[in-house]
This record gives sequence, structure tokens and C-alpha cells, in this order.
Amino acid sequence: MVDCTLGGGGHAAAILEKILPGGLFLGIDQDIKAIENARQVLQAYSSHIYLVHDNFVNLPFILSRIDIGAVDGILVDLGLSLYQIKSSGRGFTFSEDQPLDMRMNTNNAVTAAAIVNESEKETLEVIFREYGEERWAGRIAAKIVERRRRSEIVSTGELVDIISGAVPKAAAAKSRIHPATRVFMALRIAVNKELEVLDAFLDSAVDLLAPHGRIAVISFHSLEDRIVKHRFRDMAETCKCSKELPVCVCTHKPKLKIVARKPVRPSEEEVRTNPMSRSAVMRIAEKLPTTEDEEEM
Ligand SMILES: C[S@@+](CC[C@H](N)C(=O)[O-])C[C@H]1O[C@@H](n2cnc3c(N)ncnc32)[C@H](O)[C@@H]1O
Repeated sequence: MVDCTLGGGGHAAAILEKILPGGLFLGIDQDIKAIENARQVLQAYSSHIYLVHDNFVNLPFILSRIDIGAVDGILVDLGLSLYQIKSSGRGFTFSEDQPLDMRMNTNNAVTAAAIVNESEKETLEVIFREYGEERWAGRIAAKIVERRRRSEIVSTGELVDIISGAVPKAAAAKSRIHPATRVFMALRIAVNKELEVLDAFLDSAVDLLAPHGRIAVISFHSLEDRIVKHRFRDMAETCKCSKELPVCVCTHKPKLKIVARKPVRPSEEEVRTNPMSRSAVMRIAEKLPTTEDEEEM
């Protein structure tokens, strides 16, 4: 079983309880702090686990390094961990004044400050509009460019002030969310290349599943969920030959079966006990055996 997003190790411990004594567990996180924490939290299981500090997009290489050809399950729980939001001090939250960093992997070169201070106005606008679905993207980008002519923008507090000054007061008063919410999300997605990584990962991950192995992805916003939904749907599609010809003449074979047509959402009870689950959406798919798999069985 692979947990691609170890975070605080909650899912990992639950998975380990299910798969031991026979199973093997691989846990990945691109945040070294999550790996260090997991080593402690999962200490009791140390002889059954591999923990790897890497981006989950590298799963094919990670598995080949430890000589594993196929896995029975892959779990991805996207977004930020509680630690990253509350205690990392890396500027993931706008409720405290922190350095404008937002890197999940602090070995990566590009920080949120680099994007904010060095990108063209048009690029900032696209980031805020595309990744944050921010209505005032143009005004915010213009204010950032105006402000950084005086001095670099280095903290979340400075960015929040700029955004608050750019969003019309009446619009901010009407909105149910803080005016900085969407820009912060957009910057985090850009810094960590979250959507590109997810898209590339889904293709290769499915090839690593054993026949009838399952992949589950939990996403927290519509951009991520759209990618998962479309990728799963594409890979579950049957050929269209029979619509046009009496027999199938193509080599297209669906790779996946979608496990639940409707995505799984948290119950009211779960949201009460774990408010961060409020916007979670989980999609699950199962690997279909190939013709060779069937012949071997
Ligand atoms: C929502 S938390 C996971 C929480 C975890 N499931 C638990 O039970 O505590 C998401 C974690 O995924 C990690 N992460 C996000 N994108 C990643 C990626 N592309 N590669 C590796 N880790 C990633 C983050 O660093 C974070 O620690």
C-alpha cells in the first residue's frame, strides 16, 4: 500500500492496522517534517514501512528503487497538513505574519515571494484567476506591481494588506471568505506546481497498480477534483468503435473501473469532529486486469 501524502500519519496508521502482518507500506511526503514526524508516530511498525522524502510524481522511480513492480493500493490526500498550516511558519496562512514562502518541499527553489516579486503583472493575474478563481485578479496584480517598485514584498502580512487595498470594500464586505483566501490558494498551487504534478502523477500511478488494485484521491478544491474526475473517466472509457462499426477494430482497452459514480463526501458527523474535512471529495477507481493478466490467472 502506498500513502503518497503522509502528512501527520493519520491515514498511514489506519492503513497499517489493516494490512499487517502480511502487508508492506510505503509512505511518501515532499515535506521533510512530515517524514521526520512519521518516523516517530509509526515507530511501532518500523519493520513494515518505507518512508521516502520525495514528490509523489516520482512514484515509478521510488518503487523501482525498492524493487516493487506493482502495488495493491494508492492513497493521495491532497492539500496541506495541519502542521503546515498551523506550525510550519512558511506562510501558508494569512492569519499570521510570516515569511512569504509556501513551499511544501523547502529544497525547491521557487518561493511565493519569488513569484510575487519577479513575475510579470500578466502572469500574476493569470495565476490568481486560473488557480484561485479570483474575481479581482487584475486589480490585485496591478497593486502588487505598484507596491513592489518601492520595496520587495517579503511577508504574508504585506501581501494581505495589498490584497485588502485592491479588493473593493463593498465586495469584501459581501464576501463570506477573507479577501486574501483565493490569492493565497493560487500562490500555493503555483509554488508547488500542484495541478501539473497531479495530472502527470495520475497517468503513471494507474500503471503501477496490480490487477484489481485501487487508487483513491481526496481533493479539496474543484480544480484538483476536475483533474481527477476527467483522468479517471478517460482511463475508464470503453472504445467507441461499436457506435460506428459492427465490431471493435481498435486496441483501446479501458484501464480503470470507477468504483463509486458519485464522489465520497464527509458526513455531517465527520465535519463536526474534523472541520478540515468540510470540502473534501474522494474519488476511487479500480485497475482492470489486462488481457495478459487474465491469461496468467
Ligand atoms: C492533507 S495532508 C495529508 C494528511 C494525512 N493523510 C494524514 O492522515 O495526516 C497533505 C500532505 O501531502 C503532502 N504533499 C502534497 N503534495 C505532495 C506531493 N506532490 N508529493 C508529496 N507530498 C505531497 C504535503 O506536504 C502534506 O504533508
